[in-house]
Amino acid sequence: MSAHGTAQPMTAHKSGPLKGTAAVPGDKSISHRALIFGAMAIGETRITGLLEGQDVLDTAKAMQAFGATVTQHGAGAWSVQGVGVGGFGEPADVIDCGNSGTGVRLIMGTMATTPITATFTGDASLRKRPMGRVTDPLSLFGTQAYGRKGGRLPMTVVGAANPIPVRYTLPVASAQVKSAILLAGLNAPGQTVVIEKEPTRDHSERMLLGFGAALTVEKTSEGNVITLTGQPELRPQSVAVPRDPSSAAFPVCAALIVEGSDIFVPGVSQNLTRNGLYLTLVEMGADIEFQNPRTEGGEPVADLRVRFSGDMKGIEVPAERAPSMIDEYPILSVVASFATGTTVMRGVKELRVKESDRIDAMARGLEACGVRVEEDQDTLIVHGLGAGGMPGGATAKTHIDHRIAMSFLIAGMAAKKPVSIDDASPIVTSFPIFEGLMTGLGAVLSHDAE
Ligand code: S3P
Repeated sequence: MSAHGTAQPMTAHKSGPLKGTAAVPGDKSISHRALIFGAMAIGETRITGLLEGQDVLDTAKAMQAFGATVTQHGAGAWSVQGVGVGGFGEPADVIDCGNSGTGVRLIMGTMATTPITATFTGDASLRKRPMGRVTDPLSLFGTQAYGRKGGRLPMTVVGAANPIPVRYTLPVASAQVKSAILLAGLNAPGQTVVIEKEPTRDHSERMLLGFGAALTVEKTSEGNVITLTGQPELRPQSVAVPRDPSSAAFPVCAALIVEGSDIFVPGVSQNLTRNGLYLTLVEMGADIEFQNPRTEGGEPVADLRVRFSGDMKGIEVPAERAPSMIDEYPILSVVASFATGTTVMRGVKELRVKESDRIDAMARGLEACGVRVEEDQDTLIVHGLGAGGMPGGATAKTHIDHRIAMSFLIAGMAAKKPVSIDDASPIVTSFPIFEGLMTGLGAVLSHDAE
């Protein structure tokens, strides 16, 4: 099944060596938030480096539907004329968030404490994903939500007219849920408190502070206690979106497994809530140099020089690292297939509720490519075949999931025989320039099925 009706098969052939510079697009998490916080400020927020992937474009459209004015000025250069906290108007039509769990969950939070009603939907992948994790805590503010069985989209959310502030301990490590509550807390009087036992990506906290909200983060034995004072006046900002470390993961991992490769990847985030993959790769023996550490757009970044690493070893990835690399397990499991020994990924059950069930999608695809894999509800284990060892010669199902699609194309660049995917169309959600960027480095991709 494709996101937009017509499946677009694609095949990756043995490639390389990969050489050159991989300038990946803007960070998806930060791009969504720049548009949403811009819409909550009074006046004009200017954004540069915005990811123009479909997920973010859908959020831009949604902000317009709630009354903000969103304008594109040039490539990655956008402005948002915000309506202020509590200033959202009722959208005239259904809000379609496409493939984006981040988009729909953050926007639900944003409108949840304003007395308006909105109906949300998305593509076949998003309509399978659980929304109760967001609407349950939102109901504590007084918000009502009516969805399909199991809290699935389409769903109508009725914002609370007299919201009460909330104290909520996250039952799952989820930055989307944390952010939805903080966004709802913006228009509630008093203090909204979110407690997270395991730290998750902190872009909302950083951006709230940048836009002038009163927010504190206290590290306690319970975890991070995040306290937001409601009903601030957010000041418009200039936001420079740094490059996306989750997108950078694809050329980085490709260079590690394609023989002879040597690439440069500028501006990769070193934010401790996002860099778990890079720590893991180094522990496996990857040849990555972290050059020129600096701050860009309020985020710590470095330039990476990445060389083919033919002697990587399988490792046990610590479960507590999962939130800082949750989107990177699909591509890590590809790298693990080209390492020697076993890579054990525990504490990864959240992968089952992403754009697809990513444990199942990776396990089935890797098995088809000749890799031995074990899984249980919360674990993925890959038995590596060493450099160049993956047989390939199979087609992986992508299940409307951009990261599954890109992971198997990277696998095909280093496998013995080509690897195909049934549908490359979801890649536009997060990495619209993937094909051009990878072929520019020397990857061989064709628009067909093997
Ligand atoms: C995101 C949080 C993560 C991640 C997603 C982006 C965000 O989801 O998988 O791609 O921007 O807050 P969860 O909050 O469900 O872990």
